[in-house]
Amino acid sequence: MCWSILMAALTHERRKTQERVMGWLDGRVALITGGASGLGAAVAERFIAEGAQIAVLDKSTEKIAGLTARLGKGIAVTQGDVRELKDHQRAVSATVEKFGRLDIFIGNAAIWDYGAKLVDLPEDAISPAFDELFAVNVKGYLLGAKAAQRELVKNQGCMIFTVSNAGFYPDGGGPLYTASKHAVVGLIRQLAFECAPHVRVNGVAPGAIPTDLRGPAALGLAERSIASIPLQEATRGKMPIADFPAPGDYAGAYVLLASKENSRMATGTVINCDGGFAARGVATPSGGVNLPQKLGL
Ligand SMILES: NC(=O)c1ccc[n+]([C@@H]2O[C@H](COP(=O)([O-])OP(=O)(O)OC[C@H]3O[C@@H](n4cnc5c(N)ncnc54)[C@H](O)[C@@H]3O)[C@@H](O)[C@H]2O)c1
Repeated sequence: MCWSILMAALTHERRKTQERVMGWLDGRVALITGGASGLGAAVAERFIAEGAQIAVLDKSTEKIAGLTARLGKGIAVTQGDVRELKDHQRAVSATVEKFGRLDIFIGNAAIWDYGAKLVDLPEDAISPAFDELFAVNVKGYLLGAKAAQRELVKNQGCMIFTVSNAGFYPDGGGPLYTASKHAVVGLIRQLAFECAPHVRVNGVAPGAIPTDLRGPAALGLAERSIASIPLQEATRGKMPIADFPAPGDYAGAYVLLASKENSRMATGTVINCDGGFAARGVATPSGGVNLPQKLGL
């Protein structure tokens, strides 16, 4: 009698432990472009914590080495350029070879124009800069979707694309970056239509993040990092949510969209996590600063 009570208690405890360690992405496999740095790397780490297996396509050998040192050899890495379909195809093959499947494709690698305004774009650089930036930010997503589509349809998977506040509002970049991120929103809607009902296609639109985001070589910005800009000071007091984010603060939105069980009905949508661009006041960014005092808290 005593023995059976003890066994029942142990089984109950074991079940509780199993429930605790179950992640939202258990058994799922995700491929992330630009996953060796910044936001992509933060999403990779969070997906692993949620039970997923991770593959990365990135052009930087150095950053790939850093990621592998942090996350171990359990991840699948492909060094390549998102502007090349064959590199996406290699990444998809490497993922399926290592993990047997692909459930989630995350288009994330991009470059920024450092807010270069039309008036400041040199005449001889505007055309190559446009081609370079759109090739990474828009064509890179399209080619990734092309390479991943078959596996995703097979597994009823999903695509998630990193947008930006610049996909909705001006001044998150210059005309090149802003137009490229608006184009990504269009790509999400069109692919959501074309892939339904088999594959859900959504986006996450973060605001400013301290990362190593680079610019187009055609504007001489390939070696410039967004880390060189005092982003925290530049954004202080400008947004309803005043906290300055870390890359990992955005990862939860990707987890939600990647989880079939938790966002089954979401497709063609973008989660805006930009600190509240759409809720900014005219006179002051946050209207509730005195709320705790007014509520006697
Ligand atoms: N940093 C920000 O303030 C910010 C704000 C909003 C949106 N975003 C978006 O977040 C995403 C991730 O950028 P991040 O800020 O983490 O920058 P990051 O530079 O730290 O990471 C981008 C990664 O993409 C890789 N990459 C760049 N070009 C590539 C190419 N042609 N082929 C393969 N890999 C390539 C880089 O090597 C790097 O590892 C981008 O889509 C960016 O537009 C960034």
